[in-house]
Amino acid sequence: MCGIVGAVSERDVQGILLEGLRRLEYRGYDSAGMAVRQDQGDIQRAREVGKVAALAEAIEQQPCNGSVGIAHTRWATHGEPSQINAHPHMSGERLAIVHNGIIENYQGLRDQLKADGYTFSSQTDTEVVAHLIEREYRQQGDLVAAVRAAIGQLRGAYALAVLHADEPDHLVVCRAGSPLVVGVGIGENFIASDQLALLPVTDRFMFLEEGDLAEIRRDGVTVLDRDGAAVERPVSRFEHGMDSADKGEYRHFMLKEIHEQPRVIQATMEGRITDSRVLEQALGTEAGSLLDDVRHVQIIACGTSYHAGMVARYWIEELAGIPCSVEVASEFRYRHHVIQPDTLFLCISQSGETADTLAALRQAKDAGFRAALAICNVPGSSLVRESDLVIMTQAGPEIGVASTKAFTTQLVALLLFTLALGRHNGLSEKREADIVAALHRLPGQVADALALDGKIAELSKAFMDKNHSLFLGRGAMFPVALEGALKLKEISYIHAEAYPAGELKHGPLALVDSEMPVVTVAPNDELLEKLKSNLEEVRARGGELFVFADGGAELQDQPGIHVLQIPEVHPITAPIVYTLPLQLLSYHVAVLKGTDVDQPRNLAKSVTVE
Ligand code: G6P
Repeated sequence: MCGIVGAVSERDVQGILLEGLRRLEYRGYDSAGMAVRQDQGDIQRAREVGKVAALAEAIEQQPCNGSVGIAHTRWATHGEPSQINAHPHMSGERLAIVHNGIIENYQGLRDQLKADGYTFSSQTDTEVVAHLIEREYRQQGDLVAAVRAAIGQLRGAYALAVLHADEPDHLVVCRAGSPLVVGVGIGENFIASDQLALLPVTDRFMFLEEGDLAEIRRDGVTVLDRDGAAVERPVSRFEHGMDSADKGEYRHFMLKEIHEQPRVIQATMEGRITDSRVLEQALGTEAGSLLDDVRHVQIIACGTSYHAGMVARYWIEELAGIPCSVEVASEFRYRHHVIQPDTLFLCISQSGETADTLAALRQAKDAGFRAALAICNVPGSSLVRESDLVIMTQAGPEIGVASTKAFTTQLVALLLFTLALGRHNGLSEKREADIVAALHRLPGQVADALALDGKIAELSKAFMDKNHSLFLGRGAMFPVALEGALKLKEISYIHAEAYPAGELKHGPLALVDSEMPVVTVAPNDELLEKLKSNLEEVRARGGELFVFADGGAELQDQPGIHVLQIPEVHPITAPIVYTLPLQLLSYHVAVLKGTDVDQPRNLAKSVTVE
C-alpha cells in the first residue's frame, strides 16, 4: 500500500505535495514525509509518525520549500511505524526516494550493500533501494541509467520516485506491480499513486504500464518501457467531478458515500438498460460473442468485492443456469485448480489495483481461461487494462476505507452482467423484463432505505458497549450478512461474525446470550419462514435480535426483538437494498464509539501488496 506523490515545477511544491498526501491517506496513514530539493541544491526532508496532519504541523514550523519534491504516506510492511522507518529514505545527503510496494529480495541486497560499506538507519526494504540506486549512480553518473540498473536487481512490487540533489530538473519514477500515474501540467508535471491526489493541479493523466520508467521534467515526460525503448503513453482527462474528493456537508466520507448510493446506482445503470432489457453492447462490443461460449464463471476478489461476488453466484446460477465458483484471490492464486473449459474469469475490484486480485488474473491468463471480465471502479487501473472485457461501476472516487457505494454499484454491474449472460442461456424475456423493472425502481428504494437513518442511529446505541455480534442471513442475504459484519468490525472494532442462518445450531448458537446482539436481514422471500425459526432459536437463548425485515414478513417489535421495516423490494434486488441499513448501523456504532470512521486502525483502502 502507501501513497506517493511528486512534483517538478517552477513554483514551490510543498503545498501540492501535502495536499496530494492528504488525498492519498486512504492508502495508509501511519507516518508521512516529504523531501524537496532546495534552490541552493540541498535536499531537505521532513518525516513524522502519524497522519499527514502531523507532517503539516511539522513543516509549518520548518518549511520544506523547493520546486522539485517527493512525498509519501505509509502503511507499514517492513519495520514498525516510526520516524526512522518513514519515507522518504535517503542514501547519503544527495539521494531521496519514496516507494510503494514490497521488495522481496531486500535481505540479500541489504547484506551485499552492508558489505560494500553502506549503513542502514531503518528496517525498511525501501532504504535498500535507495542505496542500490546510489551505488549505481556512482558508476553511471546518470540518474535514469542508475534507476534502470537498480530495478533490474529488484524482485517484488514497486512504484518508486527518486530525487537527486545533483540532478535538479527532474524526478525519475518507475512502476512494476504498484500503481503510478503521471499528472500532466503546463510547465510542470507530477506523479502520484492515483489521479485523486493530483486533481487540484491537473486533470490530465498518463498511466504508466508495468515495467515503465519515466523521467519527469518541467517541460515534458520521457517514458522508457521495460526493455529501455522510448515509448509514448496516451494522455487522458479525468472523468469524475472535481469535487468528488471533498466531504461536502457530511461529517465523514463514509456517510457521504452511503448517501451517494441512489445517484451512483443510477449512473451505473445509465445507458445499459432499456425499459425491459439489458443492452448487451453497453457491456462491451465483444460481449455478445464472448458470453455465447461461457459454460462456467470463476469469480475472484478480496474483501467487500468478494462479498459482491458471493451475491452474484446466487444470481448467475439462478438466472443464467451456469455454474459459478467464487474464491478470495489470495487463496485462489496459491492452489492448484481444475480449469473447466469455457470458463469466464471475473475479477471484481473497486480499485483495480489489489495485488492478490491482479496476481490471480495474471495466473489465470497463463492457465488458459476463456476470457477475463473486470468489474471495476477506477478507469485506467491495472485490472481494467489487463482484462478482455470491462464493466465500469460509476461509483466515483471512494475515499472511506470501509467500502459502501463501491459494493452496491458492483452488485448492480454484476446483475446487469448476469442478465446478459442469462439471455444466452435460456432466461426468458419476461423474467428479464421483470428484473429490469426492479432495477429501475432501485435508486428510489435505496433512497427510502436511507430515510431510516434516524431509526438506525437509535438502534445503534444497543451495540456501543458490546464486544461481539452475530449477523445472520439466508441465500443471497448470507453474503449481505457477511458484508454487514465486515463493516461493523472494520470501523467499530466490535467482533462481528456472519453465519448462514441455517448453520446457527451447528455452533454459533452456543455463543448466544444477552451480551451478543444478533442482526438479521429478512426480506420477504422463500426462505423467510425458515429464517423465522432461526430467530426463535436465538430468542429462546435470551439473545437480543435486530431484524431488518420486509413489511410483509409480519415480524413485530416485541421485548428482545427490534424490527426495522425495509420498503418492499424484488427478491433479486433485495441484497442491494438490505445492504444500506447495515452500512448505516456500523457507521452510527463507530461514531458513538468515537473511532476513526474513514481511516480505521491498521487498514488501508487499496491493498497493493500481498
Ligand atoms: C481493502 C479495502 C476493502 C476492499 C478490499 C478489496 O481491504 O479496505 O474495502 O474491499 O481491499 O479492494 P478492491 O479495491 O480490490 O475492491
